[in-house]
Amino acid sequence: MKKGQASRTAEYVALFRALESSLPQNRRLFEDPYARRFLGPRLALVATLSRLPGAAEIISRFIDHRWAGARSSSVARTRLIDDMIRAALDRRIEQLVILGAGFDSRAYRMDALKDVTVFEVDHPSTRAKKQRILGRALGDFPSRVRFVATDFHEVELDRAMKGAGYSNTAPTFILWEGVTPYLSETAVDATLRWCADAATGSELLFTYVHRAVLDDPEAFAGTQRLFATLKAAGEEWKFGIDPTDLAGFLSKRGLCLEQDIGSTEYRARYLPQVTRTMRGYEFYRIALARVP
Ligand SMILES: C[S@@+](CC[C@H](N)C(=O)[O-])C[C@H]1O[C@@H](n2cnc3c(N)ncnc32)[C@H](O)[C@@H]1O
Repeated sequence: MKKGQASRTAEYVALFRALESSLPQNRRLFEDPYARRFLGPRLALVATLSRLPGAAEIISRFIDHRWAGARSSSVARTRLIDDMIRAALDRRIEQLVILGAGFDSRAYRMDALKDVTVFEVDHPSTRAKKQRILGRALGDFPSRVRFVATDFHEVELDRAMKGAGYSNTAPTFILWEGVTPYLSETAVDATLRWCADAATGSELLFTYVHRAVLDDPEAFAGTQRLFATLKAAGEEWKFGIDPTDLAGFLSKRGLCLEQDIGSTEYRARYLPQVTRTMRGYEFYRIALARVP
């Protein structure tokens, strides 16, 4: 991330969610009424134009053409994660920890979370922007939401979470969406070990990229422009895992792999009408692990 600046990639994800929210009710995967508030002037204009009839589809097609798979993977995974959190709530979750929360607005847009303590954990710069913008939108923050500022590279998550009132004996769902590729292996390792210290049965859902996209980007569609965009944002990818090593990687850190879903699969589930023509982001994956 650029020093002193909120995450730019978090803003791109907010744009994708704002565009999806502009689609007619019967065609969108979710509605995120807050996403557009986090956009700077240029992207806010794009989001405003997307409210014109038919414009969201045209803008989405343009983005899909330039950054193959980024938008479709992002909106399909947003919906999948919403569904997985709802399913976890049926299993009695008392705390939701959102690591690298960015402009995720689940704490405010999902009614199902109204009795759950939510910890929004993020880099200080992104956290400050989110709190400022949401503060204007909401007036008062719900008391069940706690903001925690930390840099995963400083390895001080445990102290920061304890200070915010996190309990490692309460059933917890930890979400770490769209963050691991930006971190060093040491930071990923330390954060996973912290997750493994949650109450028995707690779940961790995180996203990661296939290691091969870092070793040989040209083998994947659209990576040239994607990597240039990440570089310009000061948020280059540096960490990935080979899915065949995932179960062992997690078990060494005290976690048990339950599911590993690739973007081809979750896009087919939520965007079946475009699956045949969709390309790009095949390396993006969602893993669900449990504290044994
Ligand atoms: C692509 S955004 C994803 C945001 C959010 N999880 C979502 O899906 O909308 C990446 C997030 O990781 C956070 N991040 C990146 N590096 C970080 C670090 N070293 N420590 C803490 N947060 C970090 C950024 O602030 C940003 O919010």
